[in-house]
Amino acid sequence: MWALGRQVTVEVPATSANLGPGFDSLGLALNWYDRSTVTVIEDGFEIVVHGEGADSVPCDQSHLVVATILEALADWGLQVPGLRFEATNTIPHGRGLGSSSAALVAGLLMAWGLAHPHEEVDRVWLLREAFAREGHADNVAPAIHGGFVITWAGAHNDSPDAGHRSRPSQIHSAVSAVALVPGVEVLTTAARSVLPSEVPFSDAVANASRAALLVHAMSQEPSLFLEATSDRLHQVHRAELMPKSIQLVKELRRAGFGALISGAGPTVLVLLDQDQLPGLRRAIAAADPNREFSAHELRPGYRARIIHTCE
Ligand code: HSE
Repeated sequence: MWALGRQVTVEVPATSANLGPGFDSLGLALNWYDRSTVTVIEDGFEIVVHGEGADSVPCDQSHLVVATILEALADWGLQVPGLRFEATNTIPHGRGLGSSSAALVAGLLMAWGLAHPHEEVDRVWLLREAFAREGHADNVAPAIHGGFVITWAGAHNDSPDAGHRSRPSQIHSAVSAVALVPGVEVLTTAARSVLPSEVPFSDAVANASRAALLVHAMSQEPSLFLEATSDRLHQVHRAELMPKSIQLVKELRRAGFGALISGAGPTVLVLLDQDQLPGLRRAIAAADPNREFSAHELRPGYRARIIHTCE
């Protein structure tokens, strides 16, 4: 029997997938998050959204977070009489910062908090459920583990049917990230539809070496970010969908910074040693004189968590 008024509040971070060469495999959680609260009520669904998506997301039980809560509870054979859901969203939608992964992870976490108020979140369950629902493991895994995460499909036999797996990896204390967010959105489905089905062997080799180098740069040598973020697999094919972002990436890389397209775009992410921040600010001012991109100086490391429960 549900206690009316049972309440759970969660925070889930923005994430940047790919990080240049690590297409569909590397991701980074950032200290930029959405916060939401769910409360068990007597009857019906009340949905209140502040900030990003307030005017566009559905206000009934088809809302992605609410639908995820209901589904997860149903998996445990539970049904609620009604729910009030209130969200304060700050992660921009449709910009390659993992907002839909954040919504999904928030729904699962809130379901956990409602059903298991006295138990530590089972992150293995959380990963499994999030992977099963979201096609892009490189967003959900960093949101759940926090920090810098490596994901891969398949187990020892390389069969993709074995599902996604992931491991967090180390981040050097000097690593900073700057997200440059344009006003326009790009749908992930559109960004995936322009990718080729095959790539030249030399491009695959180039990306394999840079992705491996990125793991080293992230943990030990952030001064290598320019070389470690070079990509030949996906960004070039997506250029026509986000020409201004690609232009900004080129200009910042020419100035010596590890700029890349965040996830499926069109946000530009720059990975750097925090000592380089003053220089990056000058380079951004020169490359984007009309301030078409809003700049957010961030730190990696944040992870999804339940911040409050009330029975
Ligand atoms: N790796 C995915 C892509 C991320 O680039 O399509 C989608 O958020």
